Amino acid sequence: PFLDPIPSLPALYTSIGFSIFTFMATLYLVPTLGPTFVKAHLSGRDLLKVYATQIPESLGLVCASVYILALTLFIPFAFSDSLTIGSTRTPEGIFVSEFPHSRLSVYLSSLLSLLIATILGFLDDVFDIRWRHKLPIPIIASIPLLMVYYAERGNTHIVVPLPLRFLLGSLLNLGPLYYLYMSLLSTFATNSINILAGINGSEVSQALIIAISVILNDLLYLPWPIGFHLPVHLLGSNAEVEFGGVWSAGMAYGSKELVERHLFSLYFMLPLVAVCSGFMYHNWYPARVFPGDTLCYVTGMAFAVVGIQAHFSKTLLLFFLPQIFNFVLSCPQLFGLVPCPRHRVPRFDADTNLLHPSKAIFLKPPSKLAATVLRILSIFKMVVLTVHPSGVILETTNLTILNFFLVRLGPMNEKRLVQVLMCCQIGGSVLAFSVRYGLAGLVYDG
Ligand code: UD1
Ligand code: MG
Repeated sequence: PFLDPIPSLPALYTSIGFSIFTFMATLYLVPTLGPTFVKAHLSGRDLLKVYATQIPESLGLVCASVYILALTLFIPFAFSDSLTIGSTRTPEGIFVSEFPHSRLSVYLSSLLSLLIATILGFLDDVFDIRWRHKLPIPIIASIPLLMVYYAERGNTHIVVPLPLRFLLGSLLNLGPLYYLYMSLLSTFATNSINILAGINGSEVSQALIIAISVILNDLLYLPWPIGFHLPVHLLGSNAEVEFGGVWSAGMAYGSKELVERHLFSLYFMLPLVAVCSGFMYHNWYPARVFPGDTLCYVTGMAFAVVGIQAHFSKTLLLFFLPQIFNFVLSCPQLFGLVPCPRHRVPRFDADTNLLHPSKAIFLKPPSKLAATVLRILSIFKMVVLTVHPSGVILETTNLTILNFFLVRLGPMNEKRLVQVLMCCQIGGSVLAFSVRYGLAGLVYDG
């Protein structure tokens, strides 16, 4: 029992076709263009190998170009069901076009944000921008998204969990704060992948698993012809899925808006999965190419784009659990409490071919606050400290999730470490789905 005619799905099949081409193009172009990047001095040494060959870097630029090209060529197909629409005449005699301009502006503003992210990422690869300078740039890149969100009368309410309702009521309007949150989301998504990096395949495998998780989530909202329908209250129990700011369970399963938004998300995620799988083949241990910051920024921005435009930003954040953990753990180093070396990648032991946690050395004794934070972290076995007999901390293992794995699980080789990271990312997604569709039913009503 659908409320509206459902948007046509043939465009989805076209998108799958485009993705297959995108996959093959990436698979072919990345190694072909690699030498050109080395010639342009876009290369780096693999820090965790014995050999010192220059490996082509920023091949994420090729991925971004193929991805954005595919999305651009796809525009007419995304609107194929609307191309035959004419205009209607109002009683006053004015012709009104029925073309879905708002959907088009969602699509175009998303492309614009992706392009800005590509430029930023590439500039970062070429000029090594300081991270505190590059933090605000994705915020600017998200302005087109936010404006379109506003123009669409996007929702700024959140549904208050049952236990807090006596205090806040059932719906809370965050207003401008919601926009602040969404712009921070784009900065977070772009940078958090970039700082969980440095071992072969790490950046691209994170992006791949998050993209697949987003796709699985989108599929739940499509009008499947047979069986397999999630209970309406679960899909609708989140304020993000309703329209125009009025909370009701009326945004039932199969509603046109909802399907359209998740189709939009699929159009952006399917070619991303294709690009990432093609690239991963060449970036897998031992890597023949590096993604550079460009890949991290483009994939991160693509997630922010679909999260914001298809209104599932909170579900999206749940897919970033390992990145959130890594970011929170990194904060003492990012904000200058603990020294932060240029590279925090694990230390490579050439004799055994194993990775060990790398260390940050205190040149002067840490502040009281830093020492307290590190001591607490070491109680929870997040870091290992080297302490002088006088009690002063001399060294700490670097505060990243990769070093955390090595502290907890012991030394391992690079391939095993990236596999551990991937398992953690998949485990995070499984947890995300159970929180979103299992626990959400407990803390929110239908
Ligand atoms: C971020 C991290 C840094 C980490 C680096 C690795 C923070 C604040 N910054 O910096 O700690 O060391 O990423 O990417 O957490 N490389 C490899 N193997 C790989 C991928 C990269 O050895 O699989 C090395 C190469 O030498 C390559 C370099 O890392 O040239 C790229 O580093 P870059 O992306 O410029 O570092 P940042 O993003 O600034
Ligand atoms: Mg980087």
